[in-house]
Amino acid sequence: MKKQKITTFVKELNLRMKKEPIISLRYIHILGTVVFFTSVSSLVILLALYLNQRLKTSLFLVEDYHTLSSNPLTSPSLSPPPPPRRSSGSNVSDEELMLHTAMVPRGEMVMNETHPKVAFMFLTRWDLPLSPLWEMFFKEHKGFYSIYVHASPESTEEPPDSSVFYKKRIPSKAVEWGKPSMMDAEKRLLSHALLEPSNARFVLLSETCIPLFNFTTVYTYLTRSTRSFLGSFDDPRPMGRGRYSPKMLPHVSLSDWRKGSQWFEVSRRVAAEIVSDRRYDAVFKAHCRPPCYMDEHYLPTLVNKICPEMNSNRTVTWVDWSRGGPHPARFVRKDISVGFLDRIRLGSNCSYDGEVTNVCFLFARKFHVSTLEPLMKMAPYLFAL
Ligand SMILES: *[C@@H]1O[C@H](CO)[C@@H](O)[C@H](O)[C@H]1NC(C)=O
Ligand SMILES: *[C@@H]1O[C@H](CO)[C@@H](O)[C@H](O)[C@H]1NC(C)=O
Ligand SMILES: *[C@@H]1O[C@H](CO)[C@@H](O)[C@H](O)[C@H]1NC(C)=O
Ligand SMILES: *[C@@H]1O[C@H](CO)[C@@H](O)[C@H](O)[C@H]1NC(C)=O
Ligand SMILES: *[C@@H]1O[C@H](CO)[C@@H](O)[C@H](O)[C@H]1NC(C)=O
Repeated sequence: MKKQKITTFVKELNLRMKKEPIISLRYIHILGTVVFFTSVSSLVILLALYLNQRLKTSLFLVEDYHTLSSNPLTSPSLSPPPPPRRSSGSNVSDEELMLHTAMVPRGEMVMNETHPKVAFMFLTRWDLPLSPLWEMFFKEHKGFYSIYVHASPESTEEPPDSSVFYKKRIPSKAVEWGKPSMMDAEKRLLSHALLEPSNARFVLLSETCIPLFNFTTVYTYLTRSTRSFLGSFDDPRPMGRGRYSPKMLPHVSLSDWRKGSQWFEVSRRVAAEIVSDRRYDAVFKAHCRPPCYMDEHYLPTLVNKICPEMNSNRTVTWVDWSRGGPHPARFVRKDISVGFLDRIRLGSNCSYDGEVTNVCFLFARKFHVSTLEPLMKMAPYLFAL
């Protein structure tokens, strides 16, 4: 069709050219102009389409980059995402939870309209037999602490609504002691605690732990420290370096390898680093097999690798290994006395933000339920009431 039209037009033109040479020249001029402008405008349109496409692609890439690898350490202005849906109580996927926590703010000071809080995270087998002592510890300090309890998924007992532990259980999964499932439970606790933006420090405790000082002393000690209290040391013996496997290379070398107590206290930044770690988690799950135990080596090594300057390398939870054997000493009713407690409370020297102090431990384990009665009697002394 078009071709035909053009040919007839050209034929006509030739005819006219013969007839009226001057008019034909004008025709050629007009035709040239039309062709020129048509080509220019189509070029412009094509260019615009191309640029638009490029722009869209790069914008998408930027967005994608942001959600995948946003590092809240460098972008503290990110607002916290809504907490994950609690699917009928107990089944929030860990992946979903950790994705959410990977995006929460990590800054040291998080809010200024409220006090920073200390998150007390209880990793328990069943219930909390020493809870009356803890109730006394927390009394009158509402607003300065948060409580999270990870218990056996089978235990459904709820404390009375007057208790500080009322409705503090997080959706929990079965934990095998000494197995990677225990590490997962610790990360689950940290993830939940990180969702509360006012939580600034995070303590992991067991059901056999007791507080050694009153709340004010513990709170001040933790919130004023610039460093975390996560035990991390190089143990040259077989129960230290002997548990390292060269299969962890190139991610973890023998000189990176550390050991330490499971019972840690960390700042918000270190807590966020721990829950977002996938790399070392996978290395340890693959190559830390008995006699290597993830709960004794993974966090001490991880923190040594990624943020050593943020750690004091010591724990604030006292335990007695002096009796030897694979388990630390467990204390019962007859062990409890003021002298015994004061030796734990004030009987050692350590460094606190560069200063020497004799207050090195804020918590102690392992206390049998039979110690509750003497401890409750001693509480006014312990808490300097
Ligand atoms: C809940 O978790 C269990 C294992 O932990 C899984 O088998 C099950 O499919 C989950 N249910 C839902 C509804 O996500
Ligand atoms: C935070 O503190 C600053 C100064 O102390 C104040 O100007 C600001 O309004 C506060 N912001 C909030 C959200 O309270
Ligand atoms: C803790 O150990 C790391 C090395 O593992 C070191 O860089 C850091 O300075 C130590 N912290 C203190 C307070 O000594
Ligand atoms: C702690 O230090 C003080 C003075 O520096 C010293 O008298 C005391 O013996 C030390 N205690 C321990 C357990 O090392
Ligand atoms: C907490 O204990 C300290 C000593 O460790 C004491 O000076 C202080 O008065 C106590 N605070 C309260 C509120 O009991």
